[in-house]
Formats: sequence, structure tokens, C-alpha cells
Amino acid sequence: MVGLVTMAGYDVESVRKHYPALSDGWAYLDGAAGTQVPEAVIEAIARASRGGIGNHGGQFAASRRADRFVDTARTAVADLVGGVDPTGVVLGPNTTTLVFRLAQALSDSWRPGDEVVVSRLDHDANVRPWVRWAERAGAAVRWVDPRTPSTELEAEAYDGVLGPRTRVVAVTAASNLTGSIPDVAAISDRAHAVGAVVVVDGVHATPHLPVDMVALGADVWLTSAYKWSGPHVGALVADPALLDPLRPDKLAPAPDEIPWRFETGTPPFADLAGVSAAVDHLAGLAGSAGPGASRRERLVSSMAAVAAYELDLFTRLHDGLAAMEHVELIGSPTRRTATEYFRVRGHDPAAVAEHCAQARVNVWAGHMYAWELTGLLGVRDTGGGVRAGLVHYNDGNDVDRLLGAVDDLR
Ligand SMILES: Cc1ncc(COP(=O)(O)O)c(C=O)c1O
Repeated sequence: MVGLVTMAGYDVESVRKHYPALSDGWAYLDGAAGTQVPEAVIEAIARASRGGIGNHGGQFAASRRADRFVDTARTAVADLVGGVDPTGVVLGPNTTTLVFRLAQALSDSWRPGDEVVVSRLDHDANVRPWVRWAERAGAAVRWVDPRTPSTELEAEAYDGVLGPRTRVVAVTAASNLTGSIPDVAAISDRAHAVGAVVVVDGVHATPHLPVDMVALGADVWLTSAYKWSGPHVGALVADPALLDPLRPDKLAPAPDEIPWRFETGTPPFADLAGVSAAVDHLAGLAGSAGPGASRRERLVSSMAAVAAYELDLFTRLHDGLAAMEHVELIGSPTRRTATEYFRVRGHDPAAVAEHCAQARVNVWAGHMYAWELTGLLGVRDTGGGVRAGLVHYNDGNDVDRLLGAVDDLR
């Protein structure tokens, strides 16, 4: 058990002690762009490297060890996103690369007149690959917009957009800009009713809540370990039956089986040991799963406690910023992660981030690759906004320091 959940709640102080980087005196409110790693992950990567690593598929022990890191990481990611078959877990350098790869493979069967549906709530990683491969296949792109200014994406917005030629519906499980959480299950129902494949960008959502990709109707779930205390590795998770007929580009001697067929080149074996350690870490953060509970059960319980903790702390951040007359909050979704996007009147967002950095507070400024959404909101060409996000290791002190820094700018 990493943290300690008592009746009094989530023990963030205990969680923070596992993160060496947090002792540097900075407030890390940049978790939506990438999280810090706990000692257990650092140690797992170091231990893997110290223990001898060979390349894949050899007859000697160091090679077998490397293969075990891969298998173990697949099982860990499967547990994290919903107990699906680890054979459907494709590992890669990052989510962007994996979406391009999937889009290429799926588009082989698209014909002129076919359609792909993308949303303007999404990070560009779940937009541009579909647009580019649709163009090449002669398929049409249909766009679904969230409401503005709330940035809520309603399932009803898909009515009239989906049809018998819809091949793919690509949608985010949560916006990396405003935290807005669409009703993915309702969107999936509509997409499945016309026979489309539902590709869900779970990169922003995965660190903030318990994920059950099957219950959400996601045929594909994407997640990046560096957003949940792991190393820089991405994962694409799907039913192996969906991947099986697809033929992504690959080298002639590379394995043709699922999931290896989707993985190019040599994987980062030691980092994959870190992926498994990160999942174990999340499973032990908090929660009330009893003795003998499976890792999946512990993950569900732990991430539910994380979600409750983050949203509680977010109230302090949100209310604090909302009370400042010189701050303009962007987006007001009712279902959201603990992620805020805002502007400070009279100050360029980059200058606000610079000012926060002087107070040793990490926040991001700009469009955050939410390219379409910042365009829709009309802020993309004027510096975007400032993003402050909470993850499981942030505390009240982090929030108060941000509020203090922003208050200085009144
Ligand atoms: C919601 C979302 N999707 C996709 C990505 C891209 O992930 P990666 O950097 O692993 O390609 C990000 C990265 O910030 C993101 O926040």
C-alpha cells in the first residue's frame, strides 16, 4: 500500500513521499502534460537495467527476462483499463504514433464515400491521423463540435452525423484542455448502432478515474504511461479480434502475430518494467479493496479514491480562480477532471506561465495540442490559455501557491 486511506480520507502526504522530484520545492501543476515518477518506478527501471537485458526471443536468460517485461506490461495495462485480453495491448513510443498506425491499418478497407467522425473536443492526436488517412483513402471526415463556451460534448451531437458509411468514431474520454468528460458510453452506443469502430483517446482520462473501457463501449482505448506516473511509453488496447484482420506496415522478418504485428522495432524493455511498476503504484495509492483483492479490483478502488480526492481539491483551485475578477475561466463542463484552463486579463498566457515559474509553480500556456478546440473557442491565435491540472500527488499547498501567483497579477 503506497498511500493510506482512513475514514479521514486520502493521505496525500504519504503519497508525495514516494516522488523524489516533488522535494525540489516546485508545485507541479503540469501533470496533464506529464507526471513525475515514484521511486518504485525509478527502481523497477534501474533493476531491470542492472539485471541484464537481451533482445527479444533469444534462448538465454537475459532475453527471457526482457520478454517477461513486455508480457508483464501488457497484463498491467490490461488491468488498468478494464481487465481486457493482454494480447490486445499494443505497446509503442507514445499515443500519437499508435493512432497514426491504427488509422493507417484501418484505412486499408476504406473506400470513397466511407466516413470517419472526429470531435473538436479532442487532442489532435485523435484527430489528425484520422483526417490524414481519410484523405488518402478518399473517405470523408465528419466533425462533431462540443458546445461552447462550456466545452461539453453531448451524445446527441452525433445524431445526424453517423450513418451506414461511418467506419470510425474517434472521441476523447476527457479533454486535456478543460477536463470535459463526454458520455462516451452513449456515443459508443450510437456508433455501434451503425457498425462503426469506436476509438477512445483515454490519455487524459486514465490518470483521473477508474477506467472500464468495455463498459464505455470503447473498441480501442489509448493511454500514455507518462501521464500516470510511468515512463514515456504509449499503449493501444483493443479486442485482439479487432486487430487480427489488420495489416499495418511491418518489416518482413518481424512477428506477424497480434499484438507484435503492430509494434515496430525493439521495445524499451527497461521502461516496460517501469510501466508495470506504475500500474502497481496506482493500485496501491488508496482505496478499500480488501485482502485477496485482485490488482484490477485494487485499481478500481484506488482510482475511485483518487478521483474523489482530486475533485475535492479542485474545488479549491476552481473557486479560488473564479473569485478573481481579473481571471477568465474557459469552459465550464459539469463532468470534468481536475483540470482548469484560464486567461488572466491584460496578460499573455505565456507571460502568466512565466510569472508562475518565478513563483516555482509549473503550469502550461498555449493550445496544448487541443488544436480544434482552441480554434473553436477563439483563443488559439491569441496565445491560448493557461492550464493548471491536479493529479494524485498535488496538495492544497500547490493550489494555494498557484492562486497566490495569479492573484499577484491583478
Ligand atoms: C488527451 C491527449 N491525447 C493524446 C496525447 C498525445 O499523447 P502522446 O504524447 O503519448 O503521443 C496527449 C498528450 O498530451 C493528450 O493529452
